Amino acid sequence: MNSKTLIIANWKMNPINWTNAKKLFDSVKKNLKKFENIKIVFCPPFIYLPLLSNSKSESTMNLSFGSQNCFWENEGAFTGEISVQMLKEFGVKYVIIGHSERRQFLNETDEMINKKIKAVLKSNLKPILCIGETKKQKKQNKTFKILRNQININLKSISNSNLKSKISNLIIAYEPIWAIGTGEPCNPQEAKKVFLFLKKIFPHNLILYGGSVTNENAVNYIRTGFNGLLVGGTSLDPKKFVNLIENVRKNL
Ligand code: PGA
Repeated sequence: MNSKTLIIANWKMNPINWTNAKKLFDSVKKNLKKFENIKIVFCPPFIYLPLLSNSKSESTMNLSFGSQNCFWENEGAFTGEISVQMLKEFGVKYVIIGHSERRQFLNETDEMINKKIKAVLKSNLKPILCIGETKKQKKQNKTFKILRNQININLKSISNSNLKSKISNLIIAYEPIWAIGTGEPCNPQEAKKVFLFLKKIFPHNLILYGGSVTNENAVNYIRTGFNGLLVGGTSLDPKKFVNLIENVRKNL
């Protein structure tokens, strides 16, 4: 297991143009040398990936790139899709899989997510599997049942396949759906219960928290035990994002 704390910047479908994307990346990058115990992973829209990874310099070793999605086949007639091999060629090391926005807006199913996880593991990249419950499921006390079910289907037939030896590359992100982009983060005590539940299932994997993480609340999750954070909105504000990293660093 990688001992470095992971901070993933999920830019989603932002910023609106390349000039702003480059500006955002540069403003965070120039502050990165200070953060030796932390690995920052930028997950920009696909089209910005090669441009940004080309502009990464040697002095920023604690910086990596991830994509927000991938397809499970290597090549072929799959209009609009991008394979793991294509991502790998451009320096991508991490792939976010099963983000709730993809599950919700693109009808991505648990079975599709399972195929994607397998494709990423097979290529020796690190999948970041997003799991989480809705507000309604939480109110009905179904959080653990939902997570267990997502885990079972999303990781089906991996531990008894030739991918078993690669499973330590898997990263789990607990992202309660009701906390994503709402400004209503999960209470750290409740998040801790989920962390302990996941740690029992995945003792050798990194476990992240995501959902309305800010520079102010980030440390709460690190203190709780999480191995890192998946950050959406705050990662688009360079000042706040660098401050978030700094606050986490102070608490390691
Ligand atoms: P948020 O997004 O930080 O804006 O809530 C997190 C995510 O969707 O990964």
